[in-house]
Amino acid sequence: MIAAPLAPHEQLQGRHFLDLADFHPAELRALLRLARELKSAPSLVARPLLRGRTLALLFEKPSLRTRVSFEVAITSLGGQALFATGGEMLVGTRETPEDAARVLSRYVDAVVIRTHEHEPLERFAAAAGVPVINGLSALAHPCQAFADVLTMEEHFGSLEGLRVVYLGDARNNVATSLAQAVVMLGGSMRFASPLSHRPREATLQQLAKLGARAGGRVRAFTDPVRALRGADVVYTDVWTSMGEEHLHERNAAMLLPYAVTERAFSFTAPHAVFMHCLPAHRGQEVEAGVIDGARSLVFDQAENRLHAQRALLVALITDGKGTSI
Ligand code: CP
Repeated sequence: MIAAPLAPHEQLQGRHFLDLADFHPAELRALLRLARELKSAPSLVARPLLRGRTLALLFEKPSLRTRVSFEVAITSLGGQALFATGGEMLVGTRETPEDAARVLSRYVDAVVIRTHEHEPLERFAAAAGVPVINGLSALAHPCQAFADVLTMEEHFGSLEGLRVVYLGDARNNVATSLAQAVVMLGGSMRFASPLSHRPREATLQQLAKLGARAGGRVRAFTDPVRALRGADVVYTDVWTSMGEEHLHERNAAMLLPYAVTERAFSFTAPHAVFMHCLPAHRGQEVEAGVIDGARSLVFDQAENRLHAQRALLVALITDGKGTSI
């Protein structure tokens, strides 16, 4: 059993995990508590909290961290994983997302989907009878953001008032989900990008609304130095998202002033840390001296994908106590 199980108002059993904006901050905090508990008590992992449960992973795009951490998460808790990609990938290719969802819901206990577009994921989830998890879509990467805020909490104790700066393509899926998680937990989110890569107005409005309850704030800058002043966390991601390789040269030219360099840290708080969801391109969005230096939390982040996703699977598939229903 889990020592501090989810309270009735924190129950997530049967829910989908497509976008953090679908969740109440209290639910995100409960997931973080569960992840911390699973991480700090390795003996729990040996307990078969998900014995006999099957997780399907359907991936349209490559993955190292998301695929392997989900497979390890379910198998280490007593369940098993099935992986399909390429020609076997089912969402909206051989049959409709709805038909694939109805069929898979008869076979497995949860599904993780990595898609190019967000819409087939939503259609799949609407027809599914089991929890569906967004393993990255064009709009969102909520599993990454969950692990990111777990890492920030570990390092700083709390996100309340924490100043997080995201440099680069501020309208990509990682930036959006990260900002949602930060403001929901009371942090201050700043984007620094050229106007071409600035978050959409609707996204900024949604973030302001999401943060209102917890005191979270959001601002978008074009000047990276103004954004970096006093920052506690500096975050970046690749300049060109998967599937947009044809835009790489244009993005590289526009985003060069937003590369995370050693000099960038002369404007931050002295204790500032560096984060990146990986994979990274040294010499492009980040200098090797930063990502490989003492400030870098990138491998703690990557490890936390596993702890966060163990918590997610326990919360979505069971009653959150590790009791199979
Ligand atoms: N950060 C992340 O999602 O990594 P993968 O693309 O390797 O899964």
